[in-house]
Amino acid sequence: MNNRREFLRNLSLGTGALFAWKYLSFATPATGTESRIDILLDEPLGMISSTIYGHFTENLGGVIYDGIWVGKNSVIPNVDGIRKDLVDQMRKIKAPVVRFPGGCFADSYDWRDGIGPADKRPRRTNFWGDVESKNGPASHKYDPNQFGTNEFVHFCNLIGSQPYLAANLRSLPAEEFHRWVEYCNSPAGSTTLADLRASAGYPEPFGVRYWGVGNESWGCGGNFTPQEYAVEFRRFATWVPRYGMDLSLVASGPNDDNWDWTRGFLEEILKKGPSQLRSIYGLALHYYAWNLSRGRTNDWNEGKGDALKFDAVDWYELLRQGEVIESLIEGHWQAMGEFDREHGIKLVVDEWGPWYKPGSEATPGDILEQTPTLRDAVFSGMTLDVFNRHPGKIGMANCAQLINCLNSLYLAHEDKFCVTPVGYVFDLYSAHQGGQSLRAIFSSPQVHYDRDGKAANLPGLSGSASLHDKELMLTVTNPHTSEPNETEITIPGATIRKASATVLTHSDIHAHNTFTERDAVVPRTQTLELRGASIIFGFPPASVTKLLLTLA
Ligand code: AHR
Repeated sequence: MNNRREFLRNLSLGTGALFAWKYLSFATPATGTESRIDILLDEPLGMISSTIYGHFTENLGGVIYDGIWVGKNSVIPNVDGIRKDLVDQMRKIKAPVVRFPGGCFADSYDWRDGIGPADKRPRRTNFWGDVESKNGPASHKYDPNQFGTNEFVHFCNLIGSQPYLAANLRSLPAEEFHRWVEYCNSPAGSTTLADLRASAGYPEPFGVRYWGVGNESWGCGGNFTPQEYAVEFRRFATWVPRYGMDLSLVASGPNDDNWDWTRGFLEEILKKGPSQLRSIYGLALHYYAWNLSRGRTNDWNEGKGDALKFDAVDWYELLRQGEVIESLIEGHWQAMGEFDREHGIKLVVDEWGPWYKPGSEATPGDILEQTPTLRDAVFSGMTLDVFNRHPGKIGMANCAQLINCLNSLYLAHEDKFCVTPVGYVFDLYSAHQGGQSLRAIFSSPQVHYDRDGKAANLPGLSGSASLHDKELMLTVTNPHTSEPNETEITIPGATIRKASATVLTHSDIHAHNTFTERDAVVPRTQTLELRGASIIFGFPPASVTKLLLTLA
Protein backbone atom coordinates (compact mmCIF):
# COMPACT_ATOMS: atom_id res chain seq x y z
CA MET A 1 0.00 0.00 0.00
CA ASN A 2 2.52 2.53 -1.16
CA ASN A 3 -0.23 5.08 -1.61
CA ARG A 4 -0.82 5.33 2.11
CA ARG A 5 2.89 5.92 2.49
CA GLU A 6 2.54 8.68 -0.04
CA PHE A 7 -0.50 10.12 1.73
CA LEU A 8 1.28 10.16 5.07
CA ARG A 9 4.47 11.49 3.60
CA ASN A 10 2.58 14.36 1.98
CA LEU A 11 1.37 15.51 5.28
CA SER A 12 4.74 16.77 6.60
CA LEU A 13 -33.49 -4.12 18.21
CA GLY A 14 -36.01 -2.15 15.89
CA THR A 15 -37.84 -3.68 12.98
CA GLY A 16 -34.63 -5.04 11.58
CA ALA A 17 -33.80 -6.83 14.77
CA LEU A 18 -37.22 -8.50 14.75
CA PHE A 19 -36.59 -9.69 11.22
CA ALA A 20 -33.33 -11.23 12.39
CA TRP A 21 -34.88 -12.90 15.37
CA LYS A 22 -36.94 -15.28 13.27
CA TYR A 23 -33.70 -17.00 12.22
CA LEU A 24 -32.80 -17.84 15.78
CA SER A 25 -34.60 -21.12 15.46
CA PHE A 26 -33.44 -24.30 17.08
CA ALA A 27 -34.48 -27.41 15.22
CA THR A 28 -34.22 -31.09 16.06
CA PRO A 29 -33.10 -32.88 12.90
CA ALA A 30 -29.37 -33.06 12.40
CA THR A 31 -29.88 -33.64 8.72
CA GLY A 32 -30.50 -31.37 5.80
CA THR A 33 -28.47 -28.43 7.13
CA GLU A 34 -26.29 -26.72 4.57
CA SER A 35 -23.32 -26.23 6.90
CA ARG A 36 -21.61 -27.82 9.83
CA ILE A 37 -19.14 -26.76 12.48
CA ASP A 38 -17.17 -29.41 14.36
CA ILE A 39 -15.36 -28.21 17.48
CA LEU A 40 -12.45 -30.44 18.41
CA LEU A 41 -11.84 -30.47 22.16
CA ASP A 42 -8.70 -32.55 21.74
CA GLU A 43 -7.08 -30.06 19.37
CA PRO A 44 -6.10 -27.04 21.48
CA LEU A 45 -4.37 -24.27 19.55
CA GLY A 46 -3.06 -22.26 22.50
CA MET A 47 -4.22 -19.66 24.97
CA ILE A 48 -5.87 -16.57 23.50
CA SER A 49 -3.94 -13.65 24.86
CA SER A 50 -6.34 -11.07 26.25
CA THR A 51 -4.22 -8.37 24.60
CA ILE A 52 -5.57 -9.47 21.20
CA TYR A 53 -8.60 -7.41 22.25
CA GLY A 54 -6.61 -4.19 22.51
CA HIS A 55 -7.35 -0.64 21.40
CA PHE A 56 -5.60 2.29 19.80
CA THR A 57 -6.00 5.96 20.74
CA GLU A 58 -4.08 8.55 18.77
CA ASN A 59 -3.96 12.28 19.32
CA LEU A 60 -5.79 12.77 16.04
CA GLY A 61 -9.02 14.60 15.23
CA GLY A 62 -11.67 13.89 17.86
CA VAL A 63 -10.08 10.83 19.47
CA ILE A 64 -8.44 12.42 22.50
CA TYR A 65 -10.01 15.88 22.78
CA ASP A 66 -13.79 15.40 22.77
CA GLY A 67 -13.62 11.59 22.53
CA ILE A 68 -11.70 10.67 25.69
CA TRP A 69 -10.79 13.92 27.38
CA VAL A 70 -13.60 16.34 28.19
CA GLY A 71 -11.78 18.14 31.01
CA LYS A 72 -12.21 18.12 34.76
CA ASN A 73 -14.52 21.14 34.79
CA SER A 74 -16.74 19.91 32.01
CA VAL A 75 -20.50 19.57 32.42
CA ILE A 76 -20.17 16.32 30.51
CA PRO A 77 -20.11 13.47 33.04
CA ASN A 78 -16.46 12.63 33.58
CA VAL A 79 -14.05 10.88 35.89
CA ASP A 80 -11.13 13.24 36.51
CA GLY A 81 -11.65 14.77 33.07
CA ILE A 82 -12.17 11.47 31.25
CA ARG A 83 -15.54 10.85 29.60
CA LYS A 84 -17.55 8.69 32.00
CA ASP A 85 -19.63 6.89 29.34
CA LEU A 86 -16.38 5.69 27.79
CA VAL A 87 -14.97 4.50 31.10
CA ASP A 88 -18.17 2.56 31.82
CA GLN A 89 -18.25 0.92 28.40
CA MET A 90 -14.60 -0.05 28.43
CA ARG A 91 -14.92 -1.69 31.81
CA LYS A 92 -17.76 -3.71 30.38
CA ILE A 93 -15.74 -5.05 27.44
CA LYS A 94 -12.75 -5.82 29.68
CA ALA A 95 -10.40 -3.71 27.56
CA PRO A 96 -6.97 -5.26 28.17
CA VAL A 97 -4.55 -2.75 26.64
CA VAL A 98 -4.63 0.69 25.02
CA ARG A 99 -2.01 2.14 22.68
CA PHE A 100 -1.17 5.87 22.80
CA PRO A 101 -0.24 8.55 21.60
CA GLY A 102 -0.06 7.33 17.96
CA GLY A 103 0.19 6.34 15.13
CA CYS A 104 2.03 8.91 13.10
CA PHE A 105 1.51 11.43 15.90
CA ALA A 106 3.85 9.42 18.15
CA ASP A 107 6.93 10.25 16.10
CA SER A 108 6.29 13.98 16.52
CA TYR A 109 5.47 13.87 20.22
CA ASP A 110 7.63 15.06 23.07
CA TRP A 111 6.32 13.27 26.15
CA ARG A 112 7.70 16.07 28.35
CA ASP A 113 5.08 18.45 26.89
CA GLY A 114 2.34 16.35 28.45
CA ILE A 115 3.51 16.22 32.07
CA GLY A 116 3.69 18.72 34.93
CA PRO A 117 1.03 21.25 35.94
CA ALA A 118 -1.69 21.32 33.30
CA ASP A 119 -1.75 25.12 33.05
CA LYS A 120 1.99 25.24 32.31
CA ARG A 121 1.95 22.73 29.47
CA PRO A 122 2.80 24.08 26.01
CA ARG A 123 0.48 24.11 23.00
CA ARG A 124 2.03 22.43 19.98
CA THR A 125 1.05 22.01 16.37
CA ASN A 126 -0.44 18.55 16.04
CA PHE A 127 1.18 16.19 13.54
CA TRP A 128 -2.21 16.07 11.81
CA GLY A 129 -2.60 19.88 11.94
CA ASP A 130 -2.18 20.38 8.21
CA VAL A 131 -5.09 18.12 7.35
CA GLU A 132 -7.32 19.38 10.15
CA SER A 133 -10.54 20.99 8.98
CA LYS A 134 -10.75 24.75 9.31
CA ASN A 135 -13.91 24.50 11.41
CA GLY A 136 -12.51 21.94 13.85
CA PRO A 137 -11.81 22.96 17.44
CA ALA A 138 -8.41 24.51 18.14
CA SER A 139 -7.48 21.56 20.37
CA HIS A 140 -7.40 19.31 17.32
CA LYS A 141 -4.97 21.46 15.34
CA TYR A 142 -2.93 22.75 18.26
CA ASP A 143 -2.34 20.12 20.90
CA PRO A 144 -3.10 21.66 24.32
CA ASN A 145 -1.29 18.77 26.03
CA GLN A 146 -3.95 18.45 28.71
CA PHE A 147 -4.05 14.72 28.13
CA GLY A 148 -0.51 13.42 28.60
CA THR A 149 1.17 10.42 30.19
CA ASN A 150 -0.42 10.86 33.64
CA GLU A 151 -3.92 11.24 32.27
CA PHE A 152 -3.47 8.35 29.85
CA VAL A 153 -2.18 5.96 32.52
CA HIS A 154 -4.98 7.12 34.82
CA PHE A 155 -7.48 6.35 32.04
CA CYS A 156 -5.95 2.87 31.68
CA ASN A 157 -6.17 2.30 35.43
CA LEU A 158 -9.81 3.38 35.49
CA ILE A 159 -10.76 0.86 32.81
CA GLY A 160 -8.46 -1.94 33.97
CA SER A 161 -6.20 -1.80 30.90
CA GLN A 162 -2.46 -1.92 30.48
CA PRO A 163 -0.89 1.12 28.83
CA TYR A 164 1.07 0.64 25.61
CA LEU A 165 3.15 3.74 24.85
CA ALA A 166 4.64 4.45 21.43
CA ALA A 167 8.01 6.23 21.61
CA ASN A 168 9.19 8.86 19.19
CA LEU A 169 12.05 7.43 17.14
CA ARG A 170 11.93 9.86 14.22
CA SER A 171 12.45 13.16 15.99
CA LEU A 172 13.75 12.46 19.51
CA PRO A 173 16.96 10.70 20.56
CA ALA A 174 17.04 7.32 22.31
CA GLU A 175 17.84 9.11 25.55
CA GLU A 176 14.36 10.65 25.61
CA PHE A 177 12.80 7.22 25.21
CA HIS A 178 14.84 5.98 28.16
CA ARG A 179 13.81 9.02 30.21
CA TRP A 180 10.16 8.40 29.43
CA VAL A 181 10.59 4.85 30.72
CA GLU A 182 12.28 6.35 33.79
CA TYR A 183 9.41 8.79 34.33
CA CYS A 184 6.89 5.96 34.14
CA ASN A 185 8.68 3.13 35.87
CA SER A 186 11.37 4.35 38.26
CA PRO A 187 10.53 3.58 41.91
CA ALA A 188 8.95 6.19 44.17
CA GLY A 189 11.55 8.67 45.39
CA SER A 190 14.37 7.18 43.29
CA THR A 191 14.94 9.77 40.56
CA THR A 192 14.11 13.36 39.76
CA LEU A 193 11.60 12.11 37.21
CA ALA A 194 10.01 9.83 39.81
CA ASP A 195 9.64 12.92 42.02
CA LEU A 196 8.08 14.81 39.14
CA ARG A 197 5.61 11.97 38.70
CA ALA A 198 4.90 12.04 42.42
CA SER A 199 4.27 15.78 42.33
CA ALA A 200 1.45 15.08 39.87
CA GLY A 201 -0.09 12.69 42.38
CA TYR A 202 1.48 9.44 41.24
CA PRO A 203 4.27 8.42 43.62
CA GLU A 204 4.09 4.76 42.67
CA PRO A 205 5.55 3.68 39.34
CA PHE A 206 3.13 3.27 36.46
CA GLY A 207 4.76 -0.04 35.53
CA VAL A 208 4.39 0.40 31.78
CA ARG A 209 5.41 -2.86 30.16
CA TYR A 210 4.56 -2.33 26.47
CA TRP A 211 6.63 0.17 24.49
CA GLY A 212 6.50 0.77 20.76
CA VAL A 213 9.83 1.83 19.31
CA GLY A 214 8.62 4.18 16.59
CA ASN A 215 5.58 3.76 14.37
CA GLU A 216 5.39 2.99 10.66
CA SER A 217 9.07 3.72 10.37
CA TRP A 218 8.80 2.86 6.67
CA GLY A 219 6.61 6.00 6.24
CA CYS A 220 5.53 8.78 8.60
CA GLY A 221 7.89 7.44 11.25
CA GLY A 222 11.01 8.46 9.36
CA ASN A 223 10.93 6.94 5.87
CA PHE A 224 13.62 4.45 6.84
CA THR A 225 14.66 1.40 4.90
CA PRO A 226 14.20 -1.76 7.00
CA GLN A 227 17.96 -1.92 7.42
CA GLU A 228 18.23 1.70 8.59
CA TYR A 229 15.36 1.18 10.99
CA ALA A 230 16.96 -1.97 12.40
CA VAL A 231 20.05 0.06 13.27
CA GLU A 232 17.88 2.67 15.00
CA PHE A 233 15.89 -0.01 16.78
CA ARG A 234 19.06 -1.56 18.16
CA ARG A 235 20.19 1.80 19.47
CA PHE A 236 16.83 2.53 21.11
CA ALA A 237 16.46 -0.98 22.52
CA THR A 238 19.94 -1.21 24.00
CA TRP A 239 20.09 -0.92 27.75
CA VAL A 240 16.63 0.47 28.35
CA PRO A 241 16.24 0.91 32.11
CA ARG A 242 14.14 -1.98 33.47
CA TYR A 243 13.51 -1.23 37.16
CA GLY A 244 13.07 -4.91 37.81
CA MET A 245 10.32 -5.46 35.29
CA ASP A 246 10.19 -7.15 31.93
CA LEU A 247 9.66 -4.65 29.14
CA SER A 248 8.00 -5.75 25.93
CA LEU A 249 9.45 -3.69 23.09
CA VAL A 250 7.48 -3.62 19.86
CA ALA A 251 9.38 -2.91 16.66
CA SER A 252 7.76 -1.05 13.80
CA GLY A 253 6.80 -3.77 11.37
CA PRO A 254 5.43 -4.18 7.88
CA ASN A 255 2.54 -2.50 6.17
CA ASP A 256 0.23 -5.29 4.96
CA ASP A 257 2.18 -7.59 2.60
CA ASN A 258 5.57 -5.91 2.72
CA TRP A 259 7.56 -9.11 3.24
CA ASP A 260 10.75 -7.21 2.38
CA TRP A 261 10.35 -5.09 5.49
CA THR A 262 10.01 -8.12 7.75
CA ARG A 263 12.97 -9.91 6.21
CA GLY A 264 15.17 -6.84 5.80
CA PHE A 265 14.62 -5.72 9.39
CA LEU A 266 15.33 -9.10 10.99
CA GLU A 267 18.30 -9.81 8.75
CA GLU A 268 19.91 -6.54 9.80
CA ILE A 269 19.05 -7.05 13.48
CA LEU A 270 20.80 -10.42 13.35
CA LYS A 271 24.03 -8.86 12.14
CA LYS A 272 24.84 -8.19 15.79
CA GLY A 273 24.12 -11.79 16.71
CA PRO A 274 21.11 -13.92 17.60
CA SER A 275 20.82 -12.49 21.13
CA GLN A 276 19.56 -9.24 19.53
CA LEU A 277 16.33 -11.02 18.65
CA ARG A 278 15.54 -11.33 22.33
CA SER A 279 15.24 -7.58 22.68
CA ILE A 280 12.12 -7.67 20.49
CA TYR A 281 8.80 -8.71 21.97
CA GLY A 282 6.76 -8.08 18.86
CA LEU A 283 6.81 -6.91 15.29
CA ALA A 284 3.97 -4.51 14.53
CA LEU A 285 1.87 -5.35 11.49
CA HIS A 286 -0.55 -2.70 10.20
CA TYR A 287 -3.43 -3.66 7.99
CA TYR A 288 -6.25 -1.45 6.76
CA ALA A 289 -8.96 -2.62 4.35
CA TRP A 290 -9.57 0.38 2.13
CA ASN A 291 -9.68 -0.45 -1.57
CA LEU A 292 -13.28 -0.87 -2.69
CA SER A 293 -12.57 0.03 -6.32
CA ARG A 294 -12.99 -3.60 -7.43
CA GLY A 295 -9.55 -3.61 -8.99
CA ARG A 296 -9.92 -0.32 -10.84
CA THR A 297 -7.25 1.62 -8.99
CA ASN A 298 -4.63 1.44 -6.28
CA ASP A 299 -4.82 5.13 -5.57
CA TRP A 300 -5.19 5.72 -1.83
CA ASN A 301 -7.86 8.40 -2.26
CA GLU A 302 -9.61 7.16 -5.39
CA GLY A 303 -9.84 3.57 -4.20
CA LYS A 304 -11.71 4.16 -0.98
CA GLY A 305 -15.40 3.42 -0.60
CA ASP A 306 -18.16 5.05 1.39
CA ALA A 307 -18.83 4.00 4.96
CA LEU A 308 -22.62 4.32 4.66
CA LYS A 309 -23.50 4.19 0.96
CA PHE A 310 -22.64 0.80 -0.44
CA ASP A 311 -24.17 -2.09 -2.32
CA ALA A 312 -23.93 -5.83 -1.64
CA VAL A 313 -20.79 -6.12 -3.77
CA ASP A 314 -19.06 -3.40 -1.72
CA TRP A 315 -20.08 -5.30 1.39
CA TYR A 316 -18.49 -8.50 0.08
CA GLU A 317 -15.41 -6.70 -1.22
CA LEU A 318 -14.69 -5.24 2.19
CA LEU A 319 -15.11 -8.59 3.93
CA ARG A 320 -12.93 -10.25 1.33
CA GLN A 321 -10.21 -7.74 2.14
CA GLY A 322 -10.80 -8.51 5.79
CA GLU A 323 -10.00 -12.18 5.41
CA VAL A 324 -6.68 -11.28 3.76
CA ILE A 325 -5.33 -10.61 7.24
CA GLU A 326 -5.04 -14.36 7.85
CA SER A 327 -2.64 -14.77 4.92
CA LEU A 328 -0.65 -11.75 6.14
CA ILE A 329 -0.30 -13.29 9.58
CA GLU A 330 0.77 -16.62 8.14
CA GLY A 331 3.11 -15.02 5.59
CA HIS A 332 4.89 -12.72 8.02
CA TRP A 333 5.09 -15.50 10.58
CA GLN A 334 6.81 -17.69 8.05
CA ALA A 335 9.20 -14.88 7.06
CA MET A 336 9.96 -14.21 10.74
CA GLY A 337 10.70 -17.88 11.25
CA GLU A 338 13.46 -17.73 8.64
CA PHE A 339 15.42 -15.53 11.08
CA ASP A 340 13.86 -16.31 14.43
CA ARG A 341 13.58 -20.07 14.32
CA GLU A 342 12.25 -20.38 17.85
CA HIS A 343 9.59 -17.77 17.15
CA GLY A 344 10.38 -15.74 20.26
CA ILE A 345 9.06 -12.63 18.45
CA LYS A 346 5.27 -12.31 18.16
CA LEU A 347 3.18 -10.38 15.70
CA VAL A 348 1.55 -7.28 17.17
CA VAL A 349 -1.24 -6.12 14.86
CA ASP A 350 -1.41 -2.72 16.47
CA GLU A 351 -3.51 -1.07 13.77
CA TRP A 352 -6.33 -2.81 11.92
CA GLY A 353 -9.75 -1.96 10.54
CA PRO A 354 -11.59 -0.61 7.50
CA TRP A 355 -10.75 2.87 6.22
CA TYR A 356 -13.34 4.75 4.13
CA LYS A 357 -13.38 8.09 2.39
CA PRO A 358 -14.55 11.16 4.34
CA GLY A 359 -18.26 11.97 4.50
CA SER A 360 -19.84 9.85 7.23
CA GLU A 361 -18.48 11.71 10.27
CA ALA A 362 -20.85 11.80 13.24
CA THR A 363 -19.20 15.12 14.04
CA PRO A 364 -18.58 16.98 10.80
CA GLY A 365 -14.98 18.16 10.67
CA ASP A 366 -13.49 15.31 12.70
CA ILE A 367 -10.74 13.99 10.46
CA LEU A 368 -10.57 10.25 9.80
CA GLU A 369 -13.86 9.76 11.60
CA GLN A 370 -16.36 7.42 9.99
CA THR A 371 -19.64 5.82 11.04
CA PRO A 372 -19.30 2.06 11.46
CA THR A 373 -22.20 -0.06 10.21
CA LEU A 374 -23.20 -3.69 10.47
CA ARG A 375 -20.64 -4.34 7.69
CA ASP A 376 -17.85 -3.19 9.99
CA ALA A 377 -19.22 -5.35 12.79
CA VAL A 378 -19.03 -8.45 10.58
CA PHE A 379 -15.54 -7.37 9.41
CA SER A 380 -14.42 -6.95 13.03
CA GLY A 381 -15.87 -10.28 14.12
CA MET A 382 -14.10 -12.01 11.23
CA THR A 383 -10.83 -10.32 12.13
CA LEU A 384 -11.03 -11.19 15.82
CA ASP A 385 -11.84 -14.78 14.87
CA VAL A 386 -8.69 -14.89 12.74
CA PHE A 387 -6.64 -13.67 15.72
CA ASN A 388 -8.26 -16.28 17.96
CA ARG A 389 -7.31 -19.00 15.50
CA HIS A 390 -3.63 -18.00 15.67
CA PRO A 391 -3.03 -17.59 19.40
CA GLY A 392 0.64 -18.56 19.28
CA LYS A 393 1.47 -15.99 16.64
CA ILE A 394 -0.37 -12.89 17.85
CA GLY A 395 1.00 -11.20 20.96
CA MET A 396 -1.34 -8.23 20.79
CA ALA A 397 -3.74 -6.48 18.44
CA ASN A 398 -5.22 -2.98 18.60
CA CYS A 399 -8.30 -1.92 16.68
CA ALA A 400 -7.83 1.41 14.90
CA GLN A 401 -9.21 3.39 16.59
CA LEU A 402 -11.19 3.39 19.82
CA ILE A 403 -13.39 6.45 19.45
CA ASN A 404 -14.25 9.00 16.75
CA CYS A 405 -11.79 7.52 14.27
CA LEU A 406 -11.91 4.77 11.62
CA ASN A 407 -13.25 1.49 13.06
CA SER A 408 -14.54 3.13 16.25
CA LEU A 409 -16.18 1.22 19.05
CA TYR A 410 -17.72 4.49 20.23
CA LEU A 411 -18.74 7.85 18.79
CA ALA A 412 -18.92 10.92 20.99
CA HIS A 413 -19.33 14.65 20.68
CA GLU A 414 -19.84 17.01 23.60
CA ASP A 415 -22.55 15.31 25.70
CA LYS A 416 -23.55 12.85 22.97
CA PHE A 417 -22.31 9.27 22.96
CA CYS A 418 -23.17 5.98 21.29
CA VAL A 419 -21.82 2.46 21.01
CA THR A 420 -21.25 1.40 17.40
CA PRO A 421 -21.90 -2.11 16.05
CA VAL A 422 -18.11 -2.63 16.32
CA GLY A 423 -18.31 -1.82 20.03
CA TYR A 424 -20.94 -4.51 20.43
CA VAL A 425 -18.70 -7.04 18.70
CA PHE A 426 -15.95 -6.34 21.24
CA ASP A 427 -18.54 -6.83 23.96
CA LEU A 428 -19.65 -10.16 22.46
CA TYR A 429 -16.11 -11.42 21.97
CA SER A 430 -14.61 -10.30 25.28
CA ALA A 431 -15.19 -13.70 26.90
CA HIS A 432 -12.72 -15.28 24.46
CA GLN A 433 -9.91 -13.54 26.39
CA GLY A 434 -7.66 -16.00 28.16
CA GLY A 435 -9.56 -19.02 26.77
CA GLN A 436 -8.00 -22.07 25.19
CA SER A 437 -8.44 -21.71 21.45
CA LEU A 438 -9.80 -24.90 19.89
CA ARG A 439 -9.66 -26.08 16.34
CA ALA A 440 -13.11 -25.73 14.81
CA ILE A 441 -13.80 -27.05 11.34
CA PHE A 442 -16.24 -24.96 9.37
CA SER A 443 -17.82 -26.68 6.37
CA SER A 444 -20.04 -24.17 4.68
CA PRO A 445 -20.84 -23.27 1.07
CA GLN A 446 -18.97 -20.24 -0.19
CA VAL A 447 -20.73 -16.97 -0.89
CA HIS A 448 -20.62 -16.24 -4.63
CA TYR A 449 -21.10 -12.80 -6.06
CA ASP A 450 -20.65 -10.93 -9.30
CA ARG A 451 -17.68 -8.56 -9.26
CA ASP A 452 -18.40 -6.45 -12.31
CA GLY A 453 -18.91 -9.44 -14.60
CA LYS A 454 -16.36 -11.67 -12.91
CA ALA A 455 -17.21 -14.41 -10.43
CA ALA A 456 -15.93 -13.77 -6.93
CA ASN A 457 -16.44 -15.56 -3.65
CA LEU A 458 -15.64 -15.56 0.02
CA PRO A 459 -16.01 -18.21 2.73
CA GLY A 460 -19.52 -18.90 3.98
CA LEU A 461 -19.45 -19.10 7.73
CA SER A 462 -16.22 -18.52 9.62
CA GLY A 463 -15.39 -18.14 13.28
CA SER A 464 -13.46 -19.39 16.27
CA ALA A 465 -13.97 -21.41 19.44
CA SER A 466 -12.45 -21.17 22.91
CA LEU A 467 -12.82 -23.04 26.16
CA HIS A 468 -12.77 -21.80 29.76
CA ASP A 469 -13.12 -24.84 31.96
CA LYS A 470 -16.57 -26.22 30.95
CA GLU A 471 -17.68 -23.06 29.15
CA LEU A 472 -17.27 -23.26 25.42
CA MET A 473 -17.65 -20.12 23.37
CA LEU A 474 -18.16 -20.16 19.62
CA THR A 475 -18.27 -16.96 17.59
CA VAL A 476 -19.47 -17.08 14.00
CA THR A 477 -19.98 -14.56 11.22
CA ASN A 478 -22.39 -15.08 8.36
CA PRO A 479 -21.30 -12.68 5.61
CA HIS A 480 -24.20 -13.44 3.26
CA THR A 481 -26.28 -10.30 2.83
CA SER A 482 -29.60 -12.10 2.41
CA GLU A 483 -29.38 -15.82 3.18
CA PRO A 484 -29.51 -17.37 6.62
CA ASN A 485 -27.31 -20.39 7.14
CA GLU A 486 -28.70 -23.38 8.98
CA THR A 487 -25.82 -25.20 10.59
CA GLU A 488 -25.23 -28.32 12.61
CA ILE A 489 -22.72 -27.78 15.43
CA THR A 490 -21.07 -30.78 17.03
CA ILE A 491 -18.55 -31.20 19.82
CA PRO A 492 -17.40 -34.81 19.55
CA GLY A 493 -17.01 -36.43 22.96
CA ALA A 494 -18.94 -33.75 24.86
CA THR A 495 -22.46 -33.33 26.11
CA ILE A 496 -23.99 -29.87 26.04
CA ARG A 497 -25.92 -28.97 29.19
CA LYS A 498 -26.90 -25.43 28.46
CA ALA A 499 -26.72 -23.15 25.44
CA SER A 500 -27.45 -19.55 24.63
CA ALA A 501 -27.05 -17.44 21.51
CA THR A 502 -26.38 -13.74 21.24
CA VAL A 503 -26.80 -12.28 17.77
CA LEU A 504 -25.93 -8.90 16.30
CA THR A 505 -27.71 -8.29 13.01
CA HIS A 506 -30.29 -6.18 11.19
CA SER A 507 -32.46 -6.44 8.10
CA ASP A 508 -30.59 -3.49 6.58
CA ILE A 509 -26.90 -4.12 5.91
CA HIS A 510 -26.28 -0.37 6.27
CA ALA A 511 -27.70 -0.25 9.77
CA HIS A 512 -25.71 1.80 12.28
CA ASN A 513 -26.14 3.60 15.54
CA THR A 514 -26.21 7.37 15.83
CA PHE A 515 -26.46 9.94 18.61
CA THR A 516 -30.22 10.09 18.05
CA GLU A 517 -30.81 6.41 17.25
CA ARG A 518 -28.44 4.71 19.63
CA ASP A 519 -30.06 1.27 19.59
CA ALA A 520 -30.61 0.59 15.90
CA VAL A 521 -28.09 -2.28 16.02
CA VAL A 522 -27.89 -4.05 19.36
CA PRO A 523 -27.24 -7.70 20.25
CA ARG A 524 -30.06 -9.97 21.37
CA THR A 525 -29.67 -13.04 23.56
CA GLN A 526 -31.78 -16.16 23.62
CA THR A 527 -31.51 -19.37 25.62
CA LEU A 528 -31.52 -22.41 23.38
CA GLU A 529 -33.40 -25.60 24.06
CA LEU A 530 -31.24 -28.68 23.90
CA ARG A 531 -32.30 -31.74 21.97
CA GLY A 532 -29.64 -34.34 21.27
CA ALA A 533 -25.86 -34.29 21.05
CA SER A 534 -25.48 -31.61 18.39
CA ILE A 535 -27.29 -28.36 17.92
CA ILE A 536 -28.79 -26.86 14.84
CA PHE A 537 -28.62 -23.12 14.59
CA GLY A 538 -29.81 -20.74 11.91
CA PHE A 539 -27.21 -18.00 11.55
CA PRO A 540 -29.07 -14.95 10.24
CA PRO A 541 -27.78 -13.17 7.14
CA ALA A 542 -25.25 -10.40 7.78
CA SER A 543 -24.68 -11.38 11.37
CA VAL A 544 -22.19 -11.88 14.16
CA THR A 545 -23.18 -14.58 16.66
CA LYS A 546 -21.84 -15.77 19.97
CA LEU A 547 -22.88 -19.19 21.19
CA LEU A 548 -22.17 -20.02 24.81
CA LEU A 549 -22.29 -23.73 25.52
CA THR A 550 -21.91 -25.25 28.96
CA LEU A 551 -20.44 -28.73 28.67
CA ALA A 552 -21.16 -31.62 31.04
O1 AHR B 1 -4.73 5.28 12.28
C1 AHR B 1 -4.42 6.39 11.49
C2 AHR B 1 -3.00 6.34 10.96
O2 AHR B 1 -2.85 5.23 10.14
C3 AHR B 1 -1.92 6.19 11.99
O3 AHR B 1 -1.52 7.39 12.54
C4 AHR B 1 -0.80 5.59 11.22
O4 AHR B 1 0.05 4.80 12.00
C5 AHR B 1 -1.49 4.83 10.11
O5 AHR B 1 -0.97 5.12 8.88
